[in-house]
Amino acid sequence: MFNKIIMSILFMATPLIWAAGDSTKADMGKHGFVGADVCGMCHKSEKQGKQLDIWKASMHAQAYKTLESDEANKIAKDKGFTTPAAKTEACLKCHTSGSNVDASLIGPKYKVEDGVQCETCHGAGADYKNMKVMKDKTLAAQNGLQMHDDLKTFCVTCHNSDSPTYKGAPDVTAMWDKIKHPIPAEAK
Ligand code: HEC
Ligand code: HEC
Ligand code: HEC
Ligand code: HEC
Repeated sequence: MFNKIIMSILFMATPLIWAAGDSTKADMGKHGFVGADVCGMCHKSEKQGKQLDIWKASMHAQAYKTLESDEANKIAKDKGFTTPAAKTEACLKCHTSGSNVDASLIGPKYKVEDGVQCETCHGAGADYKNMKVMKDKTLAAQNGLQMHDDLKTFCVTCHNSDSPTYKGAPDVTAMWDKIKHPIPAEAK
């Protein structure tokens, strides 16, 4: 009886989780975060495609710092928040990851200040970051690695009108050109 009730509650809650639109967020709370520098240990060489440098040069790496600006605090205040933007979950949810997860899931090298980082898009990495798992795409996915083939649905989980500075539907293809970080064919 109780099981049935719990099951139906779970069943009803599932679409709500998905309605939040972001599979990354739905998966949060299961795996630990390690931080971009840990991913970068294997994803920074020329041969692997310099993902760490590409990300560091992108606005995503600045997304938390943006929340520390006077402009951000004014936006938060105008929206009725009484905390500074960098302490407001309604802002942090798109400008970083890990701000609202249990402290036990935050690894020693993880920095919320790194903003929208590897694990914001690829899922928390403690369980997939080792070489054996990483090299096996199926195993990596089972351990939390997320890929996003469809940029049109993925990028707009944050680039949408819930953003106080939204300027209209983004050109996702042009934006991807600015941040793409492929593994060179010869390394595959
Ligand atoms: C111990 C080294 C190592 C670490 C640490 C590591 N990776 Fe990887 N990663 C690899 C290797 C090797 C591959 C496979 C590359 C290939 O296909 O040739 C890979 C592949 C990937 C892929 C592509 C998977 C696919 O299905 O095409 C993504 C995305 C990725 N890593 C993200 C991350 C993220 C995010 C982190 C940090 C949480 C991380 N990696 C940490 C070594 C590592
Ligand atoms: C977790 C939320 C989130 C996701 C998912 C996300 N972004 Fe962003 N993105 C941001 C935030 C926040 C900024 C603003 C950073 C700043 O200005 O401090 C931003 C800024 C950018 C910028 C620089 C500003 C501009 O419009 O030129 C580009 C380019 C960009 N994102 C591309 C992408 C692409 C492509 C995807 C999908 C692959 C994506 N983003 C997914 C949150 C996100
Ligand atoms: C739904 C996701 C989302 C939420 C929630 C969100 N942001 Fe952003 N924010 C973005 C994205 C994406 C960008 C970059 C593109 C844009 O301006 O829409 C951005 C950019 C910004 C910028 C830089 C604007 C510029 O023109 O350079 C500031 C400042 C900012 N956000 C402040 C805030 C504050 C303060 C909050 C909380 C009240 C907040 N954001 C909540 C997604 C979000
Ligand atoms: C804004 C979201 C976002 C961020 C931040 C991000 N990635 Fe990605 N990454 C993607 C998307 C989208 C793809 C393409 C997925 C696909 O093609 O299915 C991708 C692809 C990859 C690949 C596979 C490339 C290939 O050619 O197969 C690797 C490796 C990777 N990312 C590693 C990283 C690492 C390491 C970081 C941090 C230094 C990082 N990513 C940060 C969204 C992101």
